[in-house]
Amino acid sequence: MMARPALLLAVWLGVTAAIVSGDPLPQTPAAFPGARGAKASSSTDASEKQTAGPRSSHNRPAFWIPSGLDDYVPVPLDNQATAAKVDLGARLFFDPILSADGETSCATCHLPDLAFTDGRPLAVGVYGRVGRRNVPTILNRGYGKSFFWDGRVASLEAQARDAIEGREDLGLPIEDAVVRLREEASYRAEFRNAFDPGAGDGFRSEGNAAHDADTRGPSITAQRVTQALATFVRSQMAGDSFRDRYRSGDWTAMSAAALRGLDVFALRGRCLGCHLGPLSTDEKFHNTGVSWGADPGRQKITGYESDRGRFKTPSLRNVALTAPYMHDGSIATLEEAVEFYDQGGNPNPNLDPFIAPLHLTDRQKADLVAFLEALTSVDLAGGR
Ligand code: HEC
Ligand code: HEC
Repeated sequence: MMARPALLLAVWLGVTAAIVSGDPLPQTPAAFPGARGAKASSSTDASEKQTAGPRSSHNRPAFWIPSGLDDYVPVPLDNQATAAKVDLGARLFFDPILSADGETSCATCHLPDLAFTDGRPLAVGVYGRVGRRNVPTILNRGYGKSFFWDGRVASLEAQARDAIEGREDLGLPIEDAVVRLREEASYRAEFRNAFDPGAGDGFRSEGNAAHDADTRGPSITAQRVTQALATFVRSQMAGDSFRDRYRSGDWTAMSAAALRGLDVFALRGRCLGCHLGPLSTDEKFHNTGVSWGADPGRQKITGYESDRGRFKTPSLRNVALTAPYMHDGSIATLEEAVEFYDQGGNPNPNLDPFIAPLHLTDRQKADLVAFLEALTSVDLAGGR
């Protein structure tokens, strides 16, 4: 629907070459220590990319930051982002080798086609085990301050370990995963390339079975498995929404309804009280009353009674692609979500003071939904 103006804008920016080659739009190189000295300009040179061998991935920036997102992505000092780690993390993300039943991967629940969610109310993991919560997207989580709906872990590295070992996720002790990975020559080579790039011939073992068995893949450790996965997650960013394009001067990128919806979002609807900033989240925990009584949420982590029923505010970028909604998947559509807020959430003793009946008109509700839809990244919406 909005693809046409988007395309015109792209042409106007003179980035058609990038579009044709399928590359991400030219963006700011990520601000992280590992990028220093990396030549951002050469990486957009398609010919160089095609001839690049595995080693030369060390010269490619790990990721670009799309327009609309913060330029700074926090990266742990002991896990600098590199293209080699992103590639390795991607392979691990899609590989059922990390699961107890050998059939489930991160991507079973975080499907790229559904903005890295699964379209179900509750997650389904190894052996068909149904989890307790709805699958959140991994997009833009590199900016996150805590992870999972209750914020129980503080880093993406710790999060990856939880996902591998979780009974309802991949259900595999991480040390078992390490043993399996060490048995595969291609993984031994990829870990070495990503984590011990300077290792000399003494490390090289391809094509030498006896030597392979001997080395036991010293580059593969539990910590590095989580580091590669976390780096891949960090690299998965989605910006450049219709709203971002409107903001940067393309006044055709948002419909009149979506623009009216922005007013409802900011003023009457008070959504901005919690969904603010480039990712439309304060990264804090609030009680809107969803499943009050069934899931203690943040209280289970802190022990504070006042945290009962609080959950982390999710980003609303690409929310139109990630139904059903809320930590328990209890809300099927954006219309229903707006209705939920209009009713004042689900009243309970811990209800957040920002949540109260809104008395929106039908048109205001429809406008609000149109605004939420404008938070979709243009490329994910199928237009460029
Ligand atoms: C069985 C389905 C399932 C699998 C498999 C799975 N996840 Fe998740 N993931 C979830 C659910 C559900 C949550 C939220 C859980 C919660 O809040 O308690 C989540 C949360 C996350 C988050 C945090 C998002 C946020 O907003 O805080 C990240 C990042 C993530 N998963 C990455 C991964 C990675 C990496 C793997 C593979 C190692 C993986 N997941 C495997 C279902 C899954
Ligand atoms: C008091 C803070 C707060 C306010 C105000 C608020 N939200 Fe939320 N929002 C949250 C929290 C917390 C969640 C997750 C709740 C849960 O899962 O239990 C959420 C979830 C959502 C979701 C589901 C996202 C997903 O991925 O599942 C949508 C959509 C949403 N909010 C839209 C809005 C709109 C529209 C408004 C204004 C009418 C609004 N929010 C006002 C805190 C808030």
